[in-house]
Amino acid sequence: MKILTVFGTRPEAIKMAMLIKKLSTEKTIQHKVCVTAQHREMLDQVLHFFSIEPDYDLNIMKQGQNLSSITGDVLQKITEIYKQYQPDLVIVHGDTTTCFTATLAAFYLQIKVAHIEAGMRTFNLQEPFPEEANRVLTAKLATYHFAPTEKNVQNLLVEGIAKKNIIKTGNTVIDALLYATKKVKSFSAKTRRTGIEDIFKKKKKIILVTGHRRENFGSGFIDICNALKTIAEKYHDVEIVYPVHLNPNVQKPVLELLSDIKNIHLIEPLEYPDFIFAMKNSWIILTDSGGIQEEAPSLGKPVLVMRNVTERPEAVKSGTVHLVGTNKNKIVRFVDTLYQDKNVYKKMSQSINPYGDGKASWRIVQWIKKNKKEILK
Ligand code: UD1
Ligand code: UDP
Repeated sequence: MKILTVFGTRPEAIKMAMLIKKLSTEKTIQHKVCVTAQHREMLDQVLHFFSIEPDYDLNIMKQGQNLSSITGDVLQKITEIYKQYQPDLVIVHGDTTTCFTATLAAFYLQIKVAHIEAGMRTFNLQEPFPEEANRVLTAKLATYHFAPTEKNVQNLLVEGIAKKNIIKTGNTVIDALLYATKKVKSFSAKTRRTGIEDIFKKKKKIILVTGHRRENFGSGFIDICNALKTIAEKYHDVEIVYPVHLNPNVQKPVLELLSDIKNIHLIEPLEYPDFIFAMKNSWIILTDSGGIQEEAPSLGKPVLVMRNVTERPEAVKSGTVHLVGTNKNKIVRFVDTLYQDKNVYKKMSQSINPYGDGKASWRIVQWIKKNKKEILK
């Protein structure tokens, strides 16, 4: 059986890494890796950490790329790879434009697709944009659906997907998290050289921030930055550490509004294990990221999510994740609450694992091996 794994961005690489490692050791499976490189530096950081060498690299990233250019480039280039390698199964992940387009190209050539992290929904095509649409469209075209949680399974059933093709596995993000936490116990030498470690050593309250959602571009990011500024000015025992996403739509407002504030540290995206170490040593995390909403609860860190809706309601329900949106006052008020009320902080710092037990990749590989005949039909 010939399998091709396709991904292109930082979070997909992190969440596919352990699956790739497992597939590569299977003797009955011929497995190749194709990166679209929708991301470049941020993807390469992850490939390097997990020692993954792609067999194909479409190298599509352009500065300030748009959704149509990503779609067009991936569709055209991946079709050539499919024709050349002729996989029996293509594996994609999540909700990126790489994920949807690789699925569409496979569908056009009638190649079966397995979708990892299937079934998450906000039921709002505008948030996250365009990710909700990418997930729904991928589900429509894929054959096999590896769903992290029971809620995700139910979402797919409601959409009419056959029960036999939905497999509950847990989220592979936890596989990667456990691997990295075991392997790395401190900041890397590179990060130590940048002085980041010294900020964490000050024994102050660290707020770790990330943000990159397209629907937050413009006024959303300006509000977020103003909230961070207010928090930094108000609390002198707080240090804000913000690895800024490389998207120019993020870099511009963040650098314009937050440079030169004593206790705000704008830094380059951190290597994955360094970022985990930073999460572990933070007081709270402010983010609009999907993956961080899954990682932080398992590390017992309160997460304020700068979005109105989430496709990951499990940790909200358990109480470690709270949706604050991008409204400046709402963000500041909730940070105030966590600062002042020890009980609220304690409640939100309970370590929970609604997203997995670290064996999701293993379950996916076992299922593929067991269902080889059906896949090859
Ligand atoms: C993409 C995904 C999003 C995912 C996010 C993870 C889509 C539509 N968006 O959004 O779902 O949550 O990745 O981070 O699929 N850039 C670099 N170097 C890099 C990466 C990005 O310079 O390594 C810059 C480039 O100018 C690029 C821009 O960021 O054009 C935007 O990248 P893009 O992948 O289009 O959007 P993201 O916001 O990263
Ligand atoms: N991450 C990282 N370095 C950083 C910020 C985040 O390695 O500086 C990791 C983080 O641990 C998580 C993933 O990147 O696994 C999340 O990626 P992102 O927020 O870009 O995308 P999303 O999850 O929202 O799709």
